[in-house]
Amino acid sequence: MRTSAIIVAAGSGSRLGAGQPKAFVTLGGRTLLAHSLATVAALRELLEVVVTVPPGMETEAHAEARRAGMTIPVKVTAGGIERQDSVRIALSLTSAESDLVVIHDAARPFASPALFERCIEAAARSGGAIAAIPVADTLKRVEKNLIAATLPRAGLYQAQTPQAFHRRLLIDAHERARAAGITATDDADLVERLGKRVEIVEAAALNLKITTPSDLQIAETIAAMLAK
Ligand code: C5P
Repeated sequence: MRTSAIIVAAGSGSRLGAGQPKAFVTLGGRTLLAHSLATVAALRELLEVVVTVPPGMETEAHAEARRAGMTIPVKVTAGGIERQDSVRIALSLTSAESDLVVIHDAARPFASPALFERCIEAAARSGGAIAAIPVADTLKRVEKNLIAATLPRAGLYQAQTPQAFHRRLLIDAHERARAAGITATDDADLVERLGKRVEIVEAAALNLKITTPSDLQIAETIAAMLAK
């Protein structure tokens, strides 16, 4: 099936405190955005890539795409206020020729092409599929630094990206969410609200999300190991 990729890279990265947008922070000598571009460049049958960046970073993103040697069209746009706004803007730029859309956070530089392919294949089959890992720790709900409850972790997963969906379904989910004033932190949530099935594709803990300075330190160690 024809597929468009969306890389959301428009976050400010304020929790990282790097003094520049998170997707343009370097890891192992390349920006986080470059890591994701290289991964999608390795996918088969990809029609195009749409990248959201903070306003003013469009030229830099095009330069990254050139450096990554992308051979398919790369569209770059300023993102929106929330991640959901960025995805909606990117989605509106995807080609109507595409049957599927796969969305990825630039904040996850270690997602493999194989993980993308597994999500795309599962979404082609069932409408939607997301990378996720089973929760390993015991979860506590905490109020004012005191444990209020222990949550059973059986059946709980941490949602990651990539997340892939039939394009029309995802557009519908975003339009309905916007009309209803719903903001969600991932795309699967919006599709679930339509009562549609979304499959889990079990990923690896390696597909970590860089949010804080210590995440970046861990990622640097991993990048150095992978480079050996
Ligand atoms: O902030 P957080 O790490 O949860 O963002 C997840 C991803 O969404 C990041 O790759 C970030 O660049 C992107 N994002 C975006 N537009 C926003 C907020 C976040 O593209 N307004």
